This record gives sequence, structure tokens and C-alpha cells, in this order.
Amino acid sequence: MKSPVGKYRPFSIIHLPDRQWPNRILETAPRWCSVDLRDGNQALAQPMNVSQKLEMFDALVRCGFKEIEVGFPSASNTEFEFVRRLIEDGRIPDDVTIQVLVQARDDLIERTMQALAGAKRVIIHLYNSTSPAQRRVVFGLEKADILRIATRGAQWIKEKSMLLAGTEVTFEYSPESFSATEIEFSLEICEAVMGVWEPTPESPVILNLPETVEVAMPNVYADQIEWFCRKMKRRDCAVISVHTHNDRGTGVAATELGLLAGAERVEGTLFGNGERTGNLDIIIVALNLHMHGIDCRLDFADLSVVEQVYERCTGMSVDPRHPYSGELVFTAFSGSHQDAIKKGLAEWKKREGNAAWDVPYLAIDPHDIGRTYSEVIRVNSQSGKGGVAYLLESKFGIDLPKEMQREFGPIANDAVDGLGREVSAEELKSLFWREYIERQEPFALKHFHSADTGGVAHCQAHITRNKQQIELSGTGNGPIAAFVCALQSGGVQGFEVSDYREQAMGRGAEASAIAYICVRTPDGKTRWGAGVDTNIELASIKAVLSALNRL
Ligand code: KIV
Ligand code: ZN
Repeated sequence: MKSPVGKYRPFSIIHLPDRQWPNRILETAPRWCSVDLRDGNQALAQPMNVSQKLEMFDALVRCGFKEIEVGFPSASNTEFEFVRRLIEDGRIPDDVTIQVLVQARDDLIERTMQALAGAKRVIIHLYNSTSPAQRRVVFGLEKADILRIATRGAQWIKEKSMLLAGTEVTFEYSPESFSATEIEFSLEICEAVMGVWEPTPESPVILNLPETVEVAMPNVYADQIEWFCRKMKRRDCAVISVHTHNDRGTGVAATELGLLAGAERVEGTLFGNGERTGNLDIIIVALNLHMHGIDCRLDFADLSVVEQVYERCTGMSVDPRHPYSGELVFTAFSGSHQDAIKKGLAEWKKREGNAAWDVPYLAIDPHDIGRTYSEVIRVNSQSGKGGVAYLLESKFGIDLPKEMQREFGPIANDAVDGLGREVSAEELKSLFWREYIERQEPFALKHFHSADTGGVAHCQAHITRNKQQIELSGTGNGPIAAFVCALQSGGVQGFEVSDYREQAMGRGAEASAIAYICVRTPDGKTRWGAGVDTNIELASIKAVLSALNRL
């Protein structure tokens, strides 16, 4: 790359030495406005058709949006028809206000009013470009001309909206490219528009201050918002709205700092769809509030359903690492992370309801947005024994003793490494079965019976050793001890049982037991074995042979 020196300029900063926003914290959710159906739609290679827009609108309503920008009805027939369909089919819930965008042109404003006839409540959103680059390059106009365009448009909207009988109208104005405009001029033009609309505290206007293109760091945007809020006259007659894009990758940060700086309303889209790098992803800002214990007043309890609608309607997809919504955002492959998550989840389950969420590596509880714990831990060659054990336990109720996890972990790891890909819980179970349960060489159990007389167990067993039939009998203080005694008297010597665990697996007709046995040789070598049977005694006898088969 060539040096950028001289080609680009440092961004201009605002003189605000007594800025207040760094000392504030967010305590409540802002007013949210979805612009998916306009800003998002205009950014699609193939814009949504009316039925896709209707599906998206219904999904936005289900998410809890109370303000939805439904389009730019004077821009195309599809946009116009869509607004008409919403109104004529009575699809707009009473508590939802639709918003439409329009430029400061008489004919476009006229057509917009036609689109809105019969609506209960609307926000009419007027915008014009105000930045030096737009004034110079696009319009060849001076500030005074740009200001006149805005006030003339505001006047037309005011007059024509009076003809919207029975419709409650709110006005919104955006100085487009606000963040790249001289701040004093942004204020001047917004106040001039307010002069036309004559808002009151009871009936305020919305002043939307967009970062049409992200041109500076988020702190600069916050300074611009705070400066604007502090300098403007009749602050109580305006709702300050932020509308960020993501060119520098900091749309979320700019929005959050903008809220600290005094904004009360946020415009954005689901998953950040929008021109170039997109608009603000409203889901992220909402769930960021949620993770700090603030009711975000939007509902993403089943985020994957929202994602499906989004993908179907826009043809876009969500990146696997996208905050909150990506497929991998709750997944840990690394062994140490898995171990910490496993312990954190176990502690959380014990204390649920009595403690704040504090599980390592998981910013929020995946259940809050309809995700499951089963997708949290996935096993590949980077995973350790903890992940393997977690999957066996959470998927199949196989609760391996800690010491056995240490033995099986590396076995599983080597197998996964050899495959060179992620493995499913089912594949891990098959591996476990092959390693412990299905071995029949050299020893296999054919028959076992034990009886207790006066606290002493007597057993009779029929096994094969390298396919040779052997009949055994022995006594002990329990069936396992009796079987070990029988094996030793049958010539299978040089080991002792050093550990034993058992557990139930499954319920009802499917119920079975799994037993884990550790054997130790005189030179200190240990091997675990496992056996499964509907009868716990047989499971433990099989586990003894499994361990011997692995010695
Ligand atoms: O990004 C932008 O400036 C806009 C305006 C029309 C508000 O979308
Ligand atoms: Zn925009």
C-alpha cells in the first residue's frame, strides 16, 4: 500500500472539553425504529417484492418494533403498493407506527401522501444531504440553498399532511451525512426545519442525526450528538435519533456512545443489513442492553426464526461469527474453554434463579435467544477431555468418572485428529462403545449368576478366552469380588479392582445401567473398563472384562 499521508485527512473533532457522555451509563432502552424495509431493502441486489416485504413486516412486528420505516413510497410502484397493502389490509397493529422516507420534492411528497391515506399514525421522514462534499460535488450549491431545500420540503410536508384526514402525523428530519457536516450548519438547518414544523413538547419532531458514512471514531460521533443536544434551542420539542452505518466497523459503538450523549431513539436493521458495510445491527445493541440487565423491549427469544425470515426475504446470510446470531458465537472447541464453560454451566444450574449470569466465555445465556447448551461445546482436534465428557454426559447421560475422562480424552482426541474434522456427539459415543463396550477379545461373558448366602456372594460364570470356553466359580463379599476370585482361580491373575462406579442411563423401557471399573496391575498400570446392561450386576461384570481386554 502507498502511504495514505496527504491522500486522506485526520477527522475533525468537536471542541467539547466538558463532555458529559463518558460519565454516563445506559439505564433504559431507547425507542427503536427498524429501517429494514427501506435502508435495508435499497441495499439488496434483488430488492424484496411485496410478499417478502409483508413477511418481513410481520416478523418485525413480532420482534416488538413499534416504529417501522416501511419504504420510500414515491420511489417505485412496489414501495407504493406495499404501503397501500399494509393500510388497506389492516395489517398495522394499533401500537405500531409506520414511517416513510421522502426527499424534499413537491411531486414526491404529493405521492407519499397518497400512499399514506387512511393510515392511523405515521412518521413522515424528510431528508436532504448537507455535507460539504455533497454540496460541492452533487448539488453545486451553497449552504443557504441547501437550507432552503430543507425548509421548503418541510413546508410542503406540513401543508400536504393536513389533508391526511384522521391520521396522526409525526415529522422527522435527517440532515443526511450529519457526521460529515459542519456541526454548526447541521444545527442551523435542523432548527430551521423545526421553525417550519413548530413542534411542541407534547408533539415533538424527530431529529435523526445520521452517520450516513462512518467517517470518524465513535467518540467523535458522541461528541457531535452531545454538542448538538446541548446547543439546540427547544430541546424539549425534539426526539434525538441516531442512525449509524458501519463503514469503519464501529456502528454499534457509535450508537451506544450516541445514546450516552443524549440520543433517545435508534434506527437500524436486523443483522445490520444495509448499503455497503450495512446499517447498525439493532439486535446487537438490544442484546447488549439485555446482557447488562436492561429490558431492551424487543423480543429475540427465538433469534433463529428471525434469522430464517431475514435470509428468506433478503437473500443475505448471517456470518457464523456475527455477534449473538452467528452459528458459532456460543461454541467452544478449545479444551480449556470447554472445561471452564462446563464448570460454569454446572454452577449456574445449581444456583439458577439465585445468581447473576457469570459463566466463563458465554456473554449471555444462549437460552435467552432460543439457543441450546448442546451447541456450546463441540469437539474437534483442539478439544480436550472436558468437551468429550460434556458431550457424552449432556447428550447421552454417560457421566464418565474424572479419572476415566483422563484416559478416554486422549483416545478420542487422537481419533478426531486423525479424522481432521469436527465430530458429533453420536460419533463420540460410537468411539466410546468401540473402545470400551464392544471389545470381546480376549475375554467375553457368556453367562453369570450369583447368589448371596449369609453376606457371602457365590458366583458361577461362563466366559470365553480367545474363543475358548471357560467355566468359573468363586466367592467374595459381593458379586464383583466373587467374579474376580473366580477369574483368579481360573488362571486370570495379576490384577485387582481399584475403582468402581455405576449409573443409570435413560428411563422407562430404554433404561439400562452403565458400570465403570478400573483395574490395576502389580506394577501400578491402570485401565478402565465399562459395561452396559439392563441389569447393574451384569453391567459391572462386563466392565471387569472390558478393563481386562484393554490391559
Ligand atoms: O444513512 C442515512 O443518512 C439515511 C438517511 C436517509 C437517514 O439513511
Ligand atoms: Zn442510512
